Amino acid sequence: MADNFTSLSHENRIFKPHKDFSARAHIKSFAQYKKLYNESIKSPEKFWAREAKNELAWFKPWKKVLDWKVPSAKWFVGGQLNVSHNCLDKWLGTPTANKAALIWEGEPAAPGKPGEERTLTYKQLHHEVCLFANVLKKNGIKKGDRILIYLPMVPEAAIAMLACTRIGAVHSVVFGGFSAQSVADRVFDSQAKMIITADGGFRRGAVVPLKKNVDDAFPLNDAHGNCLTKTIEKVIVLKRAGNEVAFTPGRDVWWHEEVATVDANCPAEKMDSEAPLFILYTSGSTGKPKGILHTTAGYLLGAKMTSKYVFDLRDEDVYWCTADVGWVTGHSYVVYGPLANGATSLMYEGAPNFPEPDRFWRIVAKYGVTILYTAPTAIRAFMKWGDEWPKKHDLSSLRLLGTVGEPINPEAWMWYHTVIGRKRCPIVDTWWQTETGGIMITPLPGATPTKPGTATLPFFGILPEVVDDQGNAVPHNSGGKLVVRKPWPSMLRGLWGDPKRYKEVYWSEVPGSYFTGDGCRQDKDGYFWIVGRIDDVLNVAGHRIGTAEVESALVSNSKVAEAAVVGRPDALKGQALVAFVTLKTGVTATPALRDELRNHVGKEIGPVAKPDDIRFAEALPKTRSGKIMRRLLKQVASGAEIKGDTTTLEDLTVLTKLGSAED
Ligand code: WT7
Repeated sequence: MADNFTSLSHENRIFKPHKDFSARAHIKSFAQYKKLYNESIKSPEKFWAREAKNELAWFKPWKKVLDWKVPSAKWFVGGQLNVSHNCLDKWLGTPTANKAALIWEGEPAAPGKPGEERTLTYKQLHHEVCLFANVLKKNGIKKGDRILIYLPMVPEAAIAMLACTRIGAVHSVVFGGFSAQSVADRVFDSQAKMIITADGGFRRGAVVPLKKNVDDAFPLNDAHGNCLTKTIEKVIVLKRAGNEVAFTPGRDVWWHEEVATVDANCPAEKMDSEAPLFILYTSGSTGKPKGILHTTAGYLLGAKMTSKYVFDLRDEDVYWCTADVGWVTGHSYVVYGPLANGATSLMYEGAPNFPEPDRFWRIVAKYGVTILYTAPTAIRAFMKWGDEWPKKHDLSSLRLLGTVGEPINPEAWMWYHTVIGRKRCPIVDTWWQTETGGIMITPLPGATPTKPGTATLPFFGILPEVVDDQGNAVPHNSGGKLVVRKPWPSMLRGLWGDPKRYKEVYWSEVPGSYFTGDGCRQDKDGYFWIVGRIDDVLNVAGHRIGTAEVESALVSNSKVAEAAVVGRPDALKGQALVAFVTLKTGVTATPALRDELRNHVGKEIGPVAKPDDIRFAEALPKTRSGKIMRRLLKQVASGAEIKGDTTTLEDLTVLTKLGSAED
């Protein structure tokens, strides 16, 4: 991809908010942002108390705004509220009740054909959520129980999530692209009692066999020899794809049959501010994915406020975040944030280029989407597919564009600005993480001047800093680690069942501060430029993947002796996965084995984690203390094309002699 803009000094390209946009925005000027921001940092408790009171509906007021003892935060202590009440009941009896809460479009069967369509008003969504919450109760679910949600992108995913929150059950959504093994691992860790799934979901014309994956997860064992039957009592199955599925009597029940047996009267449970709301598994530097725990009041406040100010939500907006509910972006910005604001949130099923590469632009034009929030990797793919696809459609309804998931390269930013935004729409590049619950560093579209490639400045109440190895702030224009100095309401409260790891991973690198795992630099204006992960976590097409996870998936194959996984830059995906593999004695490296190993990883984790390259080696370069020299492997992986027969073993041992003593 041509690097036109990086050679220009893009730091000096400044896009000021348009005055017409600012005039109607929630935050109308940079001065207003600054004033509020300064106030939020100077008197955080006063600031957050005022916001919590104005933004959320409470059953019982809190006694204390913040109880903070590193690394444990409790916000709005003693208060009681309910998330589904704030997203649904709050709007009943107001004009919002009859407004579309969710607009859904299923995967179209063929080019030119519309996808299946469904709209649920706030009133209808409330009704569906109450029914399903009663189904959960009928099937033995109590406050605090964990439920795995493994569904395609259909309205029922949001209904299931909201129903959990209504009765105080803790959901853990598992991305539909993950494998049976991933489902099993998450059940073992969360000790879930129930799985909510579907017969199948559609992607690129094929059926993703979700229920079959669940069935395949049942015989799998954890480290202690326990299988899913130890905790899972019920599996609720949504009929979506119409494919044949196996049914285990007594355990498996149909969603539609259960709903027909209950009534729609289900008052929202009064939940404590700090009651667990959901667990979402995400990759870390080591071992299995970590269960990020979010709680009720703080999370909802963060999701609601950031949705309102970053997307500048207005009553008439049709807002579309393209993320799957399996990721945190889907939690905060498809479901909870928009609904807590009474907005119309669009959901779509399938891929951006099926049946044709104009799927997004067709949807924008069809529904008059005003706000579009997507990932840089998607934008780069659209650039590659050609301008003719967006140019075919009327995109004049768009007024604001957003990106999330990885640094956006300035050329992709400029393309988004020019070809999609037609130079009219501000772009909000939003930096945040599963752990942060909501957006942390971002422009506010009516207030903050933007520059292509930077997420700009912190949201209200957020105090990020770039620091050196000693934890001291570095001067502007020097690189360092990105930390957050103050607790914030939507921060994670811990790792499910592992307080020790929580403290180690997030609060020990720079004692007393939250460590993000990202490298960063502030420019002369104080804007934050995220460089990317500095731990062993890769960002492949916006998916967060731990190298250790892929390595352990590879070595779980009986032919593999050792594996080291590193990232290399990739024009489309941001990063690609390269695996260096040594084989057991007697096993020969062949192209067929390469495919076998890629599929093996797909089976262990999910297709998103399949290595892009597998490179066989006689031995891996190691330091004298036996650590794999990843830095060297990264250089090899990013280096020139592999020459000759790619199945020949590479002699990486030679690198040990070249490299520095330590990794
Ligand atoms: C990591 C978090 C939070 C939603 C999606 C990803 C990277 C995220 C940006 C951005 C540069 C970004 C970081 C972060 N990241 N947004 N706007 N600019 N990098 O959530 O899977 O928890 O990944 O994504 O490296 O640490 P996640």
